[in-house]
Amino acid sequence: MPFAVQLLRLSDQEPLAKGGHRNVYAYPDQPALLIKVTRPRTRRNRSFSKRLVRRILPDTAFRNALKEIECEMKAALKSGEEIAQLPLARSFGVVQTDVGPGVVVERIQSSDGQLANHLLSMCRQQGLSDQMLGDLNRFVEKLFELQIVGRDIHAENIVYGLRGQTRMFLLIDGYGERNLVPLRSLSRRLNDRSLNKQMQQIADRTRLVWDKARRVFNLG
Ligand SMILES: Nc1ncnc2c1ncn2[C@@H]1O[C@H](COP(=O)(O)OP(=O)(O)O)[C@@H](O)[C@H]1O
Ligand SMILES: [Mg+2]
Repeated sequence: MPFAVQLLRLSDQEPLAKGGHRNVYAYPDQPALLIKVTRPRTRRNRSFSKRLVRRILPDTAFRNALKEIECEMKAALKSGEEIAQLPLARSFGVVQTDVGPGVVVERIQSSDGQLANHLLSMCRQQGLSDQMLGDLNRFVEKLFELQIVGRDIHAENIVYGLRGQTRMFLLIDGYGERNLVPLRSLSRRLNDRSLNKQMQQIADRTRLVWDKARRVFNLG
């Protein structure tokens, strides 16, 4: 039973990957899952106002994780029978581990069992085939359709791997509205504009071409 209340032991495992803020571990005995644990800050937060908010409202430490979970849950609720095309890695809630609180997520891997490659490395290594480009555009269509609020969608947060038997692009990080006034969640127009901007930035880094009117990437 994966989500029992026992404290999971991860301290004897090396993380499979590290991001700017989190370590990513294999979930013991659950090959389809990963656990993301935020690393403790090593340096003191430089902003006085942020330190003050943290002191008065200590729960703000969990805000980013909560916003991410909320975004995934909302998209999963909206997606109905098309859940298999959900463009985000699924998220399954919280576990406690001996290296800190963790969020359980769907593991996206390549056919060799390694964690899936990201879009930037795919574009740099072999370039995208027509099939991959089609997969990428199906992924993008879903982002717009489900009104995913991206705060940091870039080519390293999008991976290409297997969900069941299907090879697809998925967003693994960089989503969830963080603004105090959630403008992009409230306005489709504003969110479309923000998604468009992030797609353009991806195009700039990967040498793909973003067609804003049709909302598709083309090969450069
Ligand atoms: N669901 C996932 N499936 C496969 N690999 C993942 C998944 N989530 C994260 N990773 C890998 O772990 C790395 C760090 O995770 P990420 O969530 O981006 O951490 P951070 O928030 O610190 O940037 C990613 O760049 C990616 O290589
Ligand atoms: Mg990341």
